[in-house]
Amino acid sequence: MTARRVLTGIKPTGSPHVGNLLGAIRPALRLVDEGLDAMYFIADYHALTSIHDRAQLSHLTHEVAATWLALGLDPARVTFYRQSDVPEVFELTWILDCFTAKGWMNKAHAYKAVVQANQEAGNADADAGVNMGLYSYPVLMAADILAFDVDYVPVGKDQVQHIEIARDIAQKINHTYKAEVLKLPAAKLEAHSAIVPGLDGKKMSKSYGNTVPLFATAKELKKTINRIVTDSTPPEQPKDPEASTIFQIYKAVATPDEVRALADRYRSGIGWGDAKNALYERLLAELGDARTKYDALMADTKQIDVLLAQGAVRARTMARATLDRVRHAIGIQ
Ligand code: TRP
Repeated sequence: MTARRVLTGIKPTGSPHVGNLLGAIRPALRLVDEGLDAMYFIADYHALTSIHDRAQLSHLTHEVAATWLALGLDPARVTFYRQSDVPEVFELTWILDCFTAKGWMNKAHAYKAVVQANQEAGNADADAGVNMGLYSYPVLMAADILAFDVDYVPVGKDQVQHIEIARDIAQKINHTYKAEVLKLPAAKLEAHSAIVPGLDGKKMSKSYGNTVPLFATAKELKKTINRIVTDSTPPEQPKDPEASTIFQIYKAVATPDEVRALADRYRSGIGWGDAKNALYERLLAELGDARTKYDALMADTKQIDVLLAQGAVRARTMARATLDRVRHAIGIQ
């Protein structure tokens, strides 16, 4: 029996942070250890919907790739590539476009959020700031998935709708040509992937600007951790660890024994400065080895490009086979 295939895309729109490590990177690497046939790629053409700065797009692509490699992604076991290196995906996107009802895109949540923001701001043009890339984002995402006969896609809640759209498009094509032209993917909600709070206590997310970056320098890390919001409880007063953002982040990276020890210190009274310091030391230790690898990769980004190009060779072979099948089915020879 061949291994089930799992695929996910990582949009390079921000520097990777501790929330990504717990919510996406570690769960994805676990799937590789479980023996799945994993395809992980940098969705740089998805980032182009919002990033129109040449140096930034290129830098973020390298940062994201270096992060995954530094944290243990083994390119010998994972097909790891850059979306833009697989032109078959974009040819498939057009074909999918021709089977995608425009109304489905009107209901896609990222687009709807922009429209709503425009309306709330009293903008007469509800579509202000919407380019066609943003509007048809879900179709490109469907092509990312359908090109590879994927069994399932691990996603957060916000991406479930996109997987449903991919299934709808695939079904439309299969129904039209009365054949199993495209494989229907399933969404797999990462139930046990941790949600980590950010500096302000809300979910850590680049859109809230409350992240703890994974590979900041020690000095920057210290400064960031010092910004975690606390209250004015005096040091000696007992504290509830579960109510503390510092503790929640600590819990996400430390061992159970370490977590218990810090919880005891909270209950017998700990100063916020000391709690922050415990978190700082723990994060430094957690990411130390990875940081060395990360720095080496970022110092010579050619290595990253070579690895991604090798991954793209395998991805292209697979996408080519799907595209040939689809072209044959629709009557384009
Ligand atoms: N839309 C995803 C995100 O914003 C990124 C993505 C692009 C993706 N293509 C994909 C995820 C294909 C899963 C499968 O996070």
